[in-house]
Amino acid sequence: MGAIKGKNIVVGVCGGIAAYKTASLVRLFVKAGADVQVIMTPSAKEFITPLTMSTLSRHAVITEFFTANTGEWHSHVDLGLWADAFVVAPATACTIGKMVTGVADNMLVTSYMSTRGKVFVAPAMDLDMMSHPATQQNISVLKDRGVTVIEPREGELASALIGKGRMEEPEGIFEAVERFFSIDKDLDGKKMLITVGPTYEKIDPVRFIGNYSTGKMGCCLADEAVERGAEVTLVAGPMTALPKNDGIKIVKVESAIEMLAACESVWKDCDAAIMAAAVADYRPENCALEKIKREENGIQEIKLVKNPDIAATLGHTKNKGQLLCGFALETNNEREHGTMKLKRKNLDMIVVNSLQDEGAGFGVDTNIVTIIHSDGREIKYPKKSKREVAKDVIDELFECKK
Ligand code: CTP
Repeated sequence: MGAIKGKNIVVGVCGGIAAYKTASLVRLFVKAGADVQVIMTPSAKEFITPLTMSTLSRHAVITEFFTANTGEWHSHVDLGLWADAFVVAPATACTIGKMVTGVADNMLVTSYMSTRGKVFVAPAMDLDMMSHPATQQNISVLKDRGVTVIEPREGELASALIGKGRMEEPEGIFEAVERFFSIDKDLDGKKMLITVGPTYEKIDPVRFIGNYSTGKMGCCLADEAVERGAEVTLVAGPMTALPKNDGIKIVKVESAIEMLAACESVWKDCDAAIMAAAVADYRPENCALEKIKREENGIQEIKLVKNPDIAATLGHTKNKGQLLCGFALETNNEREHGTMKLKRKNLDMIVVNSLQDEGAGFGVDTNIVTIIHSDGREIKYPKKSKREVAKDVIDELFECKK
């Protein structure tokens, strides 16, 4: 709660049925000690009354450029400068479009364009509008500009259709804003490389050797690092997981060889690297140029050759002060294998987890890890969410060479 106290927050409300939930959001901000100014678009007033919002926010709601009966002028510039955060909830397709193109025909958009503080957008709309290329493209432009888009949820929509488009609950929006204010930017100025996901090693144009890695742990690491101010390059194997934050440079690769090349091109400028990818140890010696056919004897055997060890390559070219962290997912003798890898790859730290532990490994949202430092220090952690594990890993990595 502490992080919100004393902050100036503009809540921009657009005309959508989710506007009724924004009343609870305003209440949450006020209860947490924020000074809240609500701006409503003209159509938002059709969904919820300004009286509700002004009572909850303890300030008269602004909907027009000036108050008709007194002629009082509302300065969007002053509001923009005042706001530490500008939260648009619900954000309709129309307002998102206006924010992107600068159609400043109401107080909400003019104030947004004058805001120097952090901007959050919580979209809410029908599922077809949400998935429409126009909306998706606009959302991606906002993200590129540093706006945090709080993704809508899947569920039953006002149209009775079921799909993605329900505004995130007020508690979720509150948490996103609170997280922004509470994060210590202790990695400001640090450049980090993180590898993530599996690698695919081609057998022929339609087949590969891969593994079950989903990339969740690596994405959590990237999110944690970037939120703490680091500049992150995520070298990602083929996977569906994506980090939540914008501003992470993602380099997509497929094979271990490609992953190595991408890592080597950035490593020398990095302060630290975390190797969270599940790299295939071997690849087929040859990739068939055409699909291998069953009738022509098919695949009887595949000759494999060793892939480069990316972590070890970085470890053995490490400069003084560069930090290198590896992961080891083991099925047995975790500690012993982890320590051997730490030495062999010249790592500063290794994060060991076991496939035998329930709640650790591929696909799950939790992990149970032990961190081993190169000086022998060892810390065992209980089961935590992958995001919490990411925090522990980064805390330990940067602390270990302080
Ligand atoms: N790693 C890597 N390149 C490889 C293999 C592994 O960068 N070719 C990294 C992983 O990202 C991880 C660490 O090395 O951070 C340990 O990976 P793991 O697969 O457990 O180690 P291996 O050396 O491949 O050992 P083994 O498969 O025999 O357990």
